[in-house]
Amino acid sequence: MILDGKKIVLGICGGIAAYKALELARLFIKSDAEVWPIMTKAAANFVTPLSLQTIAGNPVAQDMFDLTRESRISHIDLAEKANIIVVAPATANIIGKIASGVADDLLSTVVMTTKASVLFAPAMNSNMYENKIVQDNIKRLKNMGYCFIGPEEGELACGYEGKGRLAPAEDILDAAEECLAPKDLKGEKMLITAGPTKEAIDPVRFISNPSSGKMGYAIARAARRRGAEVVLVSGPSYLKPPRAVTFIKTTTAEEMAEASMRHYPQSTVVIMAAAVSDYRPKISHRKKVKKEEARFTLELERTQDILQEMGNRKRGQLLVGFALETEDMLANAKKKLKEKKLDLIVANDPTSFDKEVTQVTVLEKDGMVEALPPLPKNEVAERILDKIVRAKKG
Ligand code: CTP
Repeated sequence: MILDGKKIVLGICGGIAAYKALELARLFIKSDAEVWPIMTKAAANFVTPLSLQTIAGNPVAQDMFDLTRESRISHIDLAEKANIIVVAPATANIIGKIASGVADDLLSTVVMTTKASVLFAPAMNSNMYENKIVQDNIKRLKNMGYCFIGPEEGELACGYEGKGRLAPAEDILDAAEECLAPKDLKGEKMLITAGPTKEAIDPVRFISNPSSGKMGYAIARAARRRGAEVVLVSGPSYLKPPRAVTFIKTTTAEEMAEASMRHYPQSTVVIMAAAVSDYRPKISHRKKVKKEEARFTLELERTQDILQEMGNRKRGQLLVGFALETEDMLANAKKKLKEKKLDLIVANDPTSFDKEVTQVTVLEKDGMVEALPPLPKNEVAERILDKIVRAKKG
């Protein structure tokens, strides 16, 4: 994956949120990245170098002139080896220093020396964050290509309520991946659907399926990282919506159809990963159905086939479908590819519902068929997007 084998220099400044850097370091390590921590003098008042070193598995650099550990000058070495520098928490002080070209300690010197991407995750008192000087510094750094994530609104350690909380560790990780991802989907407007739909029988019963939404959410997140503008239309799912996408929550197939068709005309790529219910009860009872007769017959009617409708109204969009098959997978997938006028279809079987890993076969309209090995859904998402990028070019 994107962070696999990457060298992340993790800069930690002095703020109460410094302890959250431990969780962040752990997430980076879990993503198979190498973590090289740098702590400012003030940071060491909030979190111990030993804790950080234990999690990171690498020495914590603190002193500009500590040449005893290595033969190379440490700021040059760290600046050169980094694939990305993540400063979390970033104080108003470090932001101000970098914005004004000051390099007076190890962290500011490494940030000034590196050619790698730099991501700041600010955390500070909300009044300080809103200060025009801090805002101007952030604007200036953004204009120069530095990346930022957060801060968030919420309760602050200083007792204030407002914007200044460090972004959640998963969001910082996601933003780091975004900094490093190729921007090969820039300019694309992608409509992605995910999850199941739910059709009510009565107020306490419904027809649905076990789709979790993991595949569609993974595609939405990966597409946004790669530069696309993403609209994610989701059925009911327990997953947290990806950050920085337009998220539309739906329940029924009808709601999903309405939201999808509304965004369809302006989309350049559509990926229908949702497991849309093909039928809904003809009558949805307003009150709970009581058990009276020995048999109960439920009359169902067809829902709209959203993807078929999109295929019929295609105006240059690249259309991607999913085919859920328990038998004759390739033949059925091929049929759907043709009938729904798709450019690409991803065939899978229902055993992957709610799992982290899936095995899919991708069929393209020019006849190309590729069976991917079992892979985590995040990785499958990247492979599908690779194919879309290639199809767009060709
Ligand atoms: N799909 C859709 N609207 C529906 C049903 C399916 O847009 N009412 C989309 C799915 O999101 C998927 C593709 O069509 O991308 C194929 O869905 P699948 O459930 O595999 O097949 P169906 O077309 O429903 O056909 P069948 O159930 O007969 O296999």
